[in-house]
Amino acid sequence: MARDPERVPGHHSLWAVDRELEALGRTSGRGATFQMMRRVGHPDFLDLPWQLALESWRHDRLVDVPRGISRHVVRFVRYGEAIYALKELPTRLAEREYRLLAELDRLLIPVVEVAALVTGRGTGRVAGGPRGARSELEAVLITRHLGFSLPYRRALQTGSELGGSADRLLDALVNLLVRLHVVGFFWGDCSLSNTLFRLDAGDLAAYVVDTETGELHPQLSDGQRSHDLVVAGENLAGELLDLSAEGVDHGLDPLATAEEMERRYRRLWGELTQEVSFAPDQRYRVEERVRQLNALGFAVEEVEVLAEEGGYRLRLNPRVVDPGYHVRTLQALTGLAVQENQARRLLDDLARYRTELERGSAAGISESAAARRWLTEVFERTVAAVPRRLRGRLEPAELFHQVLDHRWYLSEAAGHDVGLDDTVASFVATVLSGETRPPGPAAS
Ligand SMILES: Nc1ncnc2c1ncn2[C@@H]1O[C@H](COP(=O)(O)OP(=O)(O)O)[C@@H](O)[C@H]1O
Ligand SMILES: [Mg+2]
Repeated sequence: MARDPERVPGHHSLWAVDRELEALGRTSGRGATFQMMRRVGHPDFLDLPWQLALESWRHDRLVDVPRGISRHVVRFVRYGEAIYALKELPTRLAEREYRLLAELDRLLIPVVEVAALVTGRGTGRVAGGPRGARSELEAVLITRHLGFSLPYRRALQTGSELGGSADRLLDALVNLLVRLHVVGFFWGDCSLSNTLFRLDAGDLAAYVVDTETGELHPQLSDGQRSHDLVVAGENLAGELLDLSAEGVDHGLDPLATAEEMERRYRRLWGELTQEVSFAPDQRYRVEERVRQLNALGFAVEEVEVLAEEGGYRLRLNPRVVDPGYHVRTLQALTGLAVQENQARRLLDDLARYRTELERGSAAGISESAAARRWLTEVFERTVAAVPRRLRGRLEPAELFHQVLDHRWYLSEAAGHDVGLDDTVASFVATVLSGETRPPGPAAS
């Protein structure tokens, strides 16, 4: 279970690397044809009525799921535990979106997992048309529904259980935009509706859901970044106005919130790219700067040092900075694929565990040995201690994060360290049992 994350940036690129299946389908009798590209690890989708426009489908696999506003027809189907989003759009756009989603995932950007692309959907012979004439339907892009994701309406509505999350939501959006810009992605339509939000160690993490207008470049110019930010601000203000018009009480001033988003973006971008000058006897500042970026969640591949009169100047090119620092580190050590803040939290706990182990051993314990033991004896044991019927309520890494918080509360109240087993028992009895089911398909 722990190694089978529901949806984590980068995970399918690791397990099902680039192998795509191609199927040529033929619906018997009607002569309908289509072509399907599918990434491995998903159902074959061959039982769906591809010869019909998506809007007109009547099928037992169709399910209703809370969702954002869209231009295109978007519908959802269920295959066992998994839900998939189907979006009908012109072939050229669908092909581009298919490619971009896969590419972003490879770059460890949180993004919905692309599953398949259906093109060339002929409907059979056109009545009254010349012999052999076929009408062609638009393409359908299939992505895996992101489990545990929260509709932004709910997060913004004051008084709901996640109410007052506007601050975390803004941070998540800004963080996503900065990460995208670091890898050279111009979104062109950053908005709340094109983003999904998910709990990430108490904060929110934002996922890209719609890349139809996106472009991937080797690097973005300042002009491209500014343009993207302006669009994001306009979309955000517009969406907040729409929510108010629909009677959703979010208590936010649309324009001021959009400005605040831009301010936060510029602050984070500045922290990432600022140059640092230091004296000849302050060479440790290079290391310090790298750590500062790691703490922000970025891995640094290369630093550029310029020697000048009286000292050095340290420059960082965004091209050599990669998002997902904690995700990568945790994955390398444990195989766990989780979100960025969760990974940071888990790594902290792993470090604490290693210190504890080392206290009882003269030889010291390597990081990888400690990681192996921590995975089975701490992480997996904690997740397994939660009764099966309650497990679907939180993602494993989020559950673990909450157990850690709970342990801290209990220990503080008791005035001494409370063990993991007692913590889990108390957590299940008091917190988890009262927790409402997560939004999304499970709730509908
Ligand atoms: N994989 C997915 N997981 C969860 N929700 C999704 C997924 N794909 C689409 N949605 C929902 O459907 C809405 C519309 O999808 P989107 O790709 O933005 O369509 P459009 O291009 O028409 O704007 C999104 O706002 C989101 O709520
Ligand atoms: Mg959209």
